[in-house]
Amino acid sequence: MSIEIVRRLADLRSVVGGWRRQDLVTAVVPTMGALHAGHISLVQAALARADRVVVTIFVNPKQFNAATDLANYPRTEAGDIAKLQACGAHLLYAPAVEEIYPPGFATTVSVAGVSQGLCGAFRPGHFDGVATVVAKLLLQTGADLALFGEKDFQQVKVIERMVRDLDIPIEIVPCPTVREADGLALSSRNLRLSAAERAVAPRLAAILVATADRLAVGAAVATTLAAASAEIIAAGFRSVDYLELRAASDLQQHAELDRPARLLVAAWLGETRLIDNLEVTRRGVGI
Ligand code: PAJ
Repeated sequence: MSIEIVRRLADLRSVVGGWRRQDLVTAVVPTMGALHAGHISLVQAALARADRVVVTIFVNPKQFNAATDLANYPRTEAGDIAKLQACGAHLLYAPAVEEIYPPGFATTVSVAGVSQGLCGAFRPGHFDGVATVVAKLLLQTGADLALFGEKDFQQVKVIERMVRDLDIPIEIVPCPTVREADGLALSSRNLRLSAAERAVAPRLAAILVATADRLAVGAAVATTLAAASAEIIAAGFRSVDYLELRAASDLQQHAELDRPARLLVAAWLGETRLIDNLEVTRRGVGI
């Protein structure tokens, strides 16, 4: 079966509506294209849970901070379609900007709390742009479930909060981060790294793992995080936007490892900003 490609909301609604009338469960995987194995893992998880899988490709202008970042975002639709076809996705929804933001569009979805701090502090307006477009994509597809990668952990938390707050009738399924063999989290931004930077990049994940291990056996949080930031710089990163331990459930700050936690980092390698995160649990205290 070849993948169906639709660009208009009316066509999307009619296909998914037909599936619904046959009682088929539909999953949606929202993306911005430039698909890699991380995206494909979400499609595979979706195929395992649903009868029909919609992948959306939309490079959302509202979530970019810099116009150059938007202009430089990789657009590889033909290759993306081949990958989606190969893994068995049923439908690609690739709308034009006017289909998502028609003239006069005036609504912003803004999620307080979880969108503040971490990436929210360094990318003003980013999570408003994400929440707005994801609300639209979830409502446009009318899917039963939507899959998102934990690579963007704060994004998952923002979307979970939004879906609860707005009673959007969909199940959000977080999926684990897919990594290169050397530990580097897959990202379309990895393509921008020079050979020298690519050699340094996996140190970020390695330092996260070592730091999570130290915290897990009871090392003091503040001093451990400060030492890890220094290690990231010593490894060759230009700067660290943040390295923080947050509650895994709601990203609240806490100084002690007294509940399931997440270690989250954003750091600059040359002109490329890399993010990563890891689960941390205190060994031996039963959490
Ligand atoms: P994009 O960066 O294209 O990512 C699409 C989905 O793939 C997101 O859920 C992201 O978390 C997931 N993903 C990316 N790298 C991954 C990896 N290494 N392992 C597992 N999953 C990974 O995130 C966005 O697009 C946009 O913000 C979007 C949600 C589509 C809204 O515009």
